[in-house]
Amino acid sequence: MAQLLSSSCSVTLSSRNKPYLKSFDHGSASFSCKNSTSPFRRLFLQENKPRKSSVVVHATSVSTSREAPVQTSSGDPFKPKRVIVIGGDGYCGWATALHLSNKGYEVAIVDSLVRRLFDHQLGLDSLTPISSIQNRIQRWKSLTGKSIELYIGDICDFEFLSETIQSYEPDAVVHFGEQRSAPYSMIDRSRAVFTQQNNVIGTLNVLFAIKEFREQCHLVKLGTMGEYGTPNIDIEEGFITVTHNGRTDTLPYPKQASSFYHLSKVHDSHNIAFTCKAWGIRATDLNQGVVYGVTTDETAMHEELVNRFDYDGVFGTALNRFCVQAAVGHPLTVYGKGGQTRGYLDIRDTVQCVELAIANPANAGEFRVFNQFTEQFSVNQLASLITNAGEKLGLDVKSISVPNPRVEAEEHYYNAKHTKLVELGLKPHLLSDSLLDSLLNFAVQYKDRVDTKQIMPSVSWRKVGVKTKTVTN
Ligand SMILES: NC(=O)c1ccc[n+]([C@@H]2O[C@H](COP(=O)([O-])OP(=O)(O)OC[C@H]3O[C@@H](n4cnc5c(N)ncnc54)[C@H](O)[C@@H]3O)[C@@H](O)[C@H]2O)c1
Repeated sequence: MAQLLSSSCSVTLSSRNKPYLKSFDHGSASFSCKNSTSPFRRLFLQENKPRKSSVVVHATSVSTSREAPVQTSSGDPFKPKRVIVIGGDGYCGWATALHLSNKGYEVAIVDSLVRRLFDHQLGLDSLTPISSIQNRIQRWKSLTGKSIELYIGDICDFEFLSETIQSYEPDAVVHFGEQRSAPYSMIDRSRAVFTQQNNVIGTLNVLFAIKEFREQCHLVKLGTMGEYGTPNIDIEEGFITVTHNGRTDTLPYPKQASSFYHLSKVHDSHNIAFTCKAWGIRATDLNQGVVYGVTTDETAMHEELVNRFDYDGVFGTALNRFCVQAAVGHPLTVYGKGGQTRGYLDIRDTVQCVELAIANPANAGEFRVFNQFTEQFSVNQLASLITNAGEKLGLDVKSISVPNPRVEAEEHYYNAKHTKLVELGLKPHLLSDSLLDSLLNFAVQYKDRVDTKQIMPSVSWRKVGVKTKTVTN
């Protein structure tokens, strides 16, 4: 029935007679092509681009019976072994997939490759040249002997997702597979709608797929610290105990999202919390801070494993953007007063946190929330750290205040708790001079690839739908 409720799904109910499935061989995997009715395709149609098919890569294993009690693949509910990484071709997902594979987990990547499409549509590119997902996986196999299975398709397509879950039989699903840029979601109506459909329906499909086909599977979902906004009180990890009119209760921490993207994450969190209660789903919501850095032990092993590094005004995150700006001699673009304070973490800690969440699963029916960051900085503090590190490398780094394209407090109280992952064993990589040196050197190494027209913010929260001109320095 779930297929019939999803707005983006195919109504084909039988797994036989699928005229759109055309299998062909590719190494040991069986690949199939399928026309998708996903928002991904709708985005093409809205933009009058030629229609494209999404590619579905099917593993060959058979499904489990829904009635049979589901055990983890290792036979021990506390030792999850098989993990699906949704969004495994993206920045956090690629690093995580390799890390988990290296740590002995069996890993499958699910990705629609829509992120690569966004780059093409907006004329953006990663600072680092990145290989195709197929080449990445083949290179990993040739270096380590470890296989990563690949399912290319859109999780908004419930039929694709349910076949994937039934065929791979994961113990954990790590869900990175969303449109994750706040500016992208604020470009215009179609991007706002795409972001919320893609993210909310995708996550809803994951919840239904787990309920219907893999009920003991642990969902590890990437949320964002941006869900909380910037309240004038301490931010707790997911829940706050409130006494009101003499009565006390522990309630979900209030959410104050500040873009259509952040709102999609809030909607996701509510849907996940509800299904934990209603269906007994086990879930961990990782409210992640801003991720910086590019290299992990695994991605450093070969140039074909190198991760993406976004520096543009739409997908670039603060510290990564500043490093590239410093490397090419562009003033650091501080939005407004620069007092905006957020939680940050090294990508090496992202992969560590996800591994810790998987290794210590939530109980059935439990909705856990971890705040996933290691330090907090204001934008001005980051600019000053980069200026000092750049000077040591002989770079002349200046900062400018640019009109803030966002609607946000530019000076505010910020104190967010982040102890639960540390209690599970997280050993943080704190931002240090040596990391800043290596990040800056990294940016200098690839500076010829920088398109300086992409550096300034080009999307305004106040003028949604009015495409501002890309500003050059
Ligand atoms: N990068 C950060 O600083 C940061 C901070 C906080 C939270 N997060 C969250 O972490 C997750 C990963 O972020 P990222 O920076 O790696 O993003 P990314 O854009 O690099 O990767 C996301 C991946 O998901 C895929 N994807 C998107 N929609 C999909 C769909 N419907 N079906 C299948 N695949 C789909 C994309 O093709 C892409 O490869 C996101 O949920 C994001 O909101 C990221």
